[in-house]
Amino acid sequence: MLTYNYRNSTTLFAPSPDTYWGQFDEISKYNVHLNYFERMWAAWYAFMGNDVLATGIMSFVMHELVYFGRSLPWMIIDRIPSFNKYKIQNQKVPTAREQWNCAKLVLLSHFTVELPQIWFFHPMAQYFGLATGVPFPSLLKMAYQIAIFFVLEDTWHYWSHRALHWGPLYKNIHKIHHQYSAPFGLAAEYASPIEVMILGLGTVGSPILWCAVTKDLHILTMYVWIVLRLFQAIDAHSGYEFPWSLHHFLPFWAGADHHDTHHERFIGNYSSSFRWWDYVLDTESGPEAAKRRRERKAMKERKAMKEQKAQ
Ligand SMILES: *[C@@H]1O[C@H](CO)[C@@H](O)[C@H](O)[C@H]1NC(C)=O
Ligand SMILES: [Zn+2]
Ligand SMILES: [Zn+2]
Repeated sequence: MLTYNYRNSTTLFAPSPDTYWGQFDEISKYNVHLNYFERMWAAWYAFMGNDVLATGIMSFVMHELVYFGRSLPWMIIDRIPSFNKYKIQNQKVPTAREQWNCAKLVLLSHFTVELPQIWFFHPMAQYFGLATGVPFPSLLKMAYQIAIFFVLEDTWHYWSHRALHWGPLYKNIHKIHHQYSAPFGLAAEYASPIEVMILGLGTVGSPILWCAVTKDLHILTMYVWIVLRLFQAIDAHSGYEFPWSLHHFLPFWAGADHHDTHHERFIGNYSSSFRWWDYVLDTESGPEAAKRRRERKAMKERKAMKEQKAQ
């Protein structure tokens, strides 16, 4: 691709796209095949003239906007009494003070722990062959890759989260995240910096692994994945279960229904997006899961009895 870095140019007569929209116009002139969004993307990288900086700023800003942007509607819902009937632990609506304390720690960890990681991300991803240019990959490709990341991340999350509930790790690391026994959206990333790194590895590591193996990943796919994963994590902590919640349509989707009780009881339901790991490994404890377990046991006994009779 052509680069349009005129910023260090000394010619006075060159069209001087010193501004972002100047870059955008330049790129639009010669790249009519690109769509609007692709041109905006290319103009951003051309305008910055430094890919690491361009990716770093974009990633950090996007993360903040999505994290707080997605948490805000839940904060508003908490203040609307008619929504209270959908609250899973309905007597526990977070106070403004609690939310503020939570936001402070989350912000601190975003700037101290996540920012350096995000900065390091571009060089590392490039090393593994992540594409950052235009045109973008097709929607179909983005969709199936993201579906794979969901499965990989959920698996990583299940095992590392389960490990974090082991005594010493719980006491030293994971306890912070469990400070709120009735979670709310903003509390999704309320955790020790070490936990942010361990669990974050599932979110960032899954696409990196995919990229290292297939050499076929675009950073835009990565962004869409991270946005969806943030939505998933925040909604799972929202504390609300609606008749229209996703898991009613996708029975293997975890959602708040699955994670809220984890905060209430400190045990079981370790995975992030899906229910299958907890179901298969019997860590879905709780009244319903206990009932299912009893039924399964009873069925086994009946079967064993029948076999005995048959002999
Ligand atoms: C796990 O999730 C299921 C489904 O929402 C729930 O019935 C159960 O009580 C939960 N168990 C724990 C221990 O969180
Ligand atoms: Zn936990
Ligand atoms: Zn949680």
